[in-house]
Amino acid sequence: MKVLIVGGGGREHAIAFAVSKSPKVDKIYCAPGNAGIADLAECVDIQVMDFEEIAKFAKKTGVDLVIVGPDDPLAAGIVDVLRGYGLKVFGPDGKAAILEGSKAFSKDLMKKYNIPTAEYEVFDNADKALAYLKDSRFPIVLKADGLALGKGVLICNTPEEAEAGVKEIMLDKKFGMAGNRMVIEEYMTGREVSVLTFCDGKTIKVMSSAQDHKRAGDGDTGLNTGGMGTFSPSPFYTAKIDEYCKKHIYKPTVDAMAKEGRPFKGVIFFGLMLTEDGPKVLEFNARFGDPEAQVVLPRMKNDIIDVMLSCVDGTLGKVKLEFEDNAAVCVMLASKGYPEKYERGFVIRGLDSFDGKEGYYVFHSGTKKTGKGIVTNGGRVLGITAKGDNLIEARARAYEAVEWIDFDNKYYRHDIGKAIEEV
Ligand code: AMP
Ligand code: GLY
Repeated sequence: MKVLIVGGGGREHAIAFAVSKSPKVDKIYCAPGNAGIADLAECVDIQVMDFEEIAKFAKKTGVDLVIVGPDDPLAAGIVDVLRGYGLKVFGPDGKAAILEGSKAFSKDLMKKYNIPTAEYEVFDNADKALAYLKDSRFPIVLKADGLALGKGVLICNTPEEAEAGVKEIMLDKKFGMAGNRMVIEEYMTGREVSVLTFCDGKTIKVMSSAQDHKRAGDGDTGLNTGGMGTFSPSPFYTAKIDEYCKKHIYKPTVDAMAKEGRPFKGVIFFGLMLTEDGPKVLEFNARFGDPEAQVVLPRMKNDIIDVMLSCVDGTLGKVKLEFEDNAAVCVMLASKGYPEKYERGFVIRGLDSFDGKEGYYVFHSGTKKTGKGIVTNGGRVLGITAKGDNLIEARARAYEAVEWIDFDNKYYRHDIGKAIEEV
């Protein structure tokens, strides 16, 4: 089979790695890919929003399956365009990807189908939002309706902060069109967990859980980022919680989407908060998490192609998802200054230290091949993942491997997975 992966970050590198293990696959392409993916796939210089070019390339080269990684093309309907060309595609169509593409849609869906989530109101007018804040309790959470690179959520501790937030989102349009509407919701407390699932429109199968670290600094300080590191499984996501979520969250979500005429085929990523009143949905994503994929996929025993084809064909019910009985930790190496200002173009040394090291992985997020070698080319640069028999071992190994890599302005959190010490 020939497979084309759309995207060029750490998530797509982890997907490419899983695809490369399938005996069914003899050729992988990636658009646009990156310097690390290039070891597994032929990278083609087509950007992820260039749907027509992607479709033409896939037709011309006889691609059998396209896998779409990132949220932006999914929300903008890449799957519909590619299917229009007669291609087989793993990922939700535009009608289903709205689950991530509009927070107002997803909140209304949860309310309608009694899926546990924070109390909220939707606003398309700044004055009404400001008036609502007058009688609100703080902290409170403001969310731009649309996609904003994971940055459109503001947690406001005071009325003044919230007023400034409404202005930023709705009037100054800090997140662009994503702020034409906004959700204001109740602030929840508890431990966060990321649960990735495969869906075929009617059946949903749960992958091993993970926990992300969204803030830039040690001890969960600093700005929100795309994710600074993950571990899997989450010891806080117990069998009892899993059972509750399957019954009250996962299955109801897939059924709700089908009932709304938006059957979801692909990955639903449930961002959950384990509150005192039970698990509640923080957000839905319509794709693998990044860097959740970097700890979940290396632990999956199934041939990912079999699972993805079953999602496309509606036969997921026959698949038994299996994960290794071990653990993985991923530490993101970022550029100093991320998620704000940072420099690019520094040579990365030590990548070959991973060659032949069983259970250690270096997934590229923002890298580029140049005449002087592979250089940094993004805020998040590399995801260093290691597996171990348990989380403590995996964590020690991941931090050991972090030392193998060196580049100017290398920055990372030192406490990824520290929470497991509390278990
Ligand atoms: P989201 O993009 O919706 O996942 O939000 C990003 C981050 O903001 C989440 O991972 C949480 O840490 C935080 N967050 C979002 N919604 C809430 C909420 N209702 N209560 C507390 N924290 C939240
Ligand atoms: N790691 C969070 C996300 O992919 O949205």
